[in-house]
Amino acid sequence: MKIEGKEYRTIWFENNVVKIIDQTKLPHQFVIKDLITVKDAINAITRMEVRGAPLIGATAAYGLVLAIIEKNDQNFLKKSSEDLIKSRPTAINLKWAVDRMMNKLRGVNSDKILHIASNEAKEICEEDIKFCKNIGLNGLKIIEEIHNKKKDTINILTHCNAGWLATINWGTATSPIYHAHKKGIPVHVWVDETRPRNQGANLTSYELNEEGIKNTIIADNTGGILMQRGEVDICIVGTDRTLANGDVCNKIGTYLKALAAHDNKVPFYVTLPSSTIDWNIKDHKDIPIEERNSDELSHIEGLDEKDDIKKIQIYPKKSKALNLAFDITPAKYVTGLITERGICEASKDGLKKLF
Ligand code: MRU
Repeated sequence: MKIEGKEYRTIWFENNVVKIIDQTKLPHQFVIKDLITVKDAINAITRMEVRGAPLIGATAAYGLVLAIIEKNDQNFLKKSSEDLIKSRPTAINLKWAVDRMMNKLRGVNSDKILHIASNEAKEICEEDIKFCKNIGLNGLKIIEEIHNKKKDTINILTHCNAGWLATINWGTATSPIYHAHKKGIPVHVWVDETRPRNQGANLTSYELNEEGIKNTIIADNTGGILMQRGEVDICIVGTDRTLANGDVCNKIGTYLKALAAHDNKVPFYVTLPSSTIDWNIKDHKDIPIEERNSDELSHIEGLDEKDDIKKIQIYPKKSKALNLAFDITPAKYVTGLITERGICEASKDGLKKLF
């Protein structure tokens, strides 16, 4: 998708260097960063220079390519794969991508290993683009249906950033929106600010602006009243891990939106590529929920009056804070899962029919 009119992907590989858009700098600065070592890739994931489940997976895949460039040694590769998996706990795409890479690379001692690794990492990216595009085409059908009845602007509420910046291109939750916009369906997006890191305000609104899609940032608590007022036609969100029974783990606050949507009979859809399905964990209580530094709550970063980036403390230094990054939306509150293979019920049977 576009930034200042120029097409980008979120990650690419050039002359043995991995290039990323440093998302900690957005929306105020656009910085392309080089990742040269596997440690750089691990840091990019932990510091959230890249984030979003599919992009974390792709970065980990390229992290292994960088590990091979550094030292073509199976022990180093194994250790790197373990360190990459530990770099963020909740998004399953990270482990999925590392396992997929290691299945190709384990035991390969020839010079061909770099070629095999970079091809596989590229394939992970190409596949994600294809899957996200299909998610968009499948989700478009739902927006079209609503538009056929409403014949007016469709108001879509989204949470966090499940946009192209969270994937390689298109995004998951945003892909149906981009496809609807390209087809000429009038859309407007309510963008949850998504405290504490503000991925909605800083990333979703930014990328929608760059694509010319109308959007309005709202505080995380505003969605409920908008739904009561009939000002939300559909909620579309992403996910970091969806269980085979249809329970959805996503950015903290998703669950409360799903409850409000259920109470107000607003359809609540979750978009995901199959790489985000965890087929193994049976109970959502077993999903590792990331607890991040409380500084993310107590401090806020933005532009000061001179347009310099500044970080400030926003509440008493003595106060404690708890910063859980994800929550669980039980399957019963999900109207449907929009995947690359089609739309299904959020249930074991629904997912089984597609996969
Ligand atoms: O903590 P983040 O920014 O990595 O969280 C991202 C989300 O919660 C997204 O909604 C999710 O990864 C889906 S991305 C297509």
